[in-house]
Amino acid sequence: MRVLSGMQPSGRLHLGNLLGALENWKKLQEQNECFFFVADWHALSTNYEDTSQLQTFIHEILIDWLAAGIDPERATVFIQSHVPEHAVLNLLLSMITPIPWLERNPTYKEKQERIEGRDLSTHGFLGYPVLQAADILLYKADAVPVGKDQLPHLELTREIARRFNSLYAPVLVEPKEMLTEFPKVLGTDGQKMSKSYGNTINLSDSAPEVRQKLKTMLTDPARVRRTDPGNPEICPVFDFHKIYSTPAVIDQINKECRTAEIGCIDCKKFVADSMVERLSPIWESRKALESNPKQLEEVVRIGCKRATEVSQQTLAEVKEAMKV
Ligand code: TRP
Ligand code: SF4
Repeated sequence: MRVLSGMQPSGRLHLGNLLGALENWKKLQEQNECFFFVADWHALSTNYEDTSQLQTFIHEILIDWLAAGIDPERATVFIQSHVPEHAVLNLLLSMITPIPWLERNPTYKEKQERIEGRDLSTHGFLGYPVLQAADILLYKADAVPVGKDQLPHLELTREIARRFNSLYAPVLVEPKEMLTEFPKVLGTDGQKMSKSYGNTINLSDSAPEVRQKLKTMLTDPARVRRTDPGNPEICPVFDFHKIYSTPAVIDQINKECRTAEIGCIDCKKFVADSMVERLSPIWESRKALESNPKQLEEVVRIGCKRATEVSQQTLAEVKEAMKV
């Protein structure tokens, strides 16, 4: 299968991104032809005023991907804006996309309400899903691994492809979504881990930073004193144990928390050890990549070249069908 997915470069990747998307991408790249790209133009749809950090974020996200195990020998890794065919197909698809389809898009309304202090009544923000459709359709992707929030965009992509195919010629492939099950990851404050809540543990954090963040992490709120028994099932620290610790440690915590044999401070030390052990290889590769910028440049150069080949082919077929 041909698989394609993208991520906006809107800051450093955290453990939620790692466990939610990247672990899945890593599995997919073993069996499929994969295209993974940095959606930098999409980032402009909400962050068009202050672009001072954009290039840094693009660089950081690429380092995070490779350090986490995205393998450029298997997957095509590229940057959206380096393949201008995305913009051309976006333009052509925008001609056949009715505005009510875009206004109906739930994420359009939801984000406009949620993101305050920014004027999002722009053409680009309304057209976000058309650009996303162009990203996907250019590569004739069979499947797109995404989170639940992206399902309306996938549906729109299929509707746009169908409309194109019935108006002109059957050139575009309707992609399927690939929903991924992943362990729930809560942030240090017990809410969903998210950059906008400032509660993340990042791939770029150092071991002492991870330990410090865990120290301040919320536990079972009913466990006020050391002698109070706790309930690991409602404790976000225990969620990390389930992901990072060995079965023996998980069993031990599960028992000793309920009987107050173990205190939260020790419990957090255990989980910090497990996490540091599992994240260390990622930190090592991050360092290696940072000290060798040529390597990253080369990965992007090859990826963009390959992406350009595929997208030029599709764009030629699209133009031929539309007679433009
Ligand atoms: N909209 C996606 C997100 O915010 C990013 C994205 C852009 C994407 N183009 C894509 C994802 C194409 C999958 C396929 O997460
Ligand atoms: Fe959570 Fe561990 Fe404390 Fe139990 S002992 S409440 S699992 S931090």
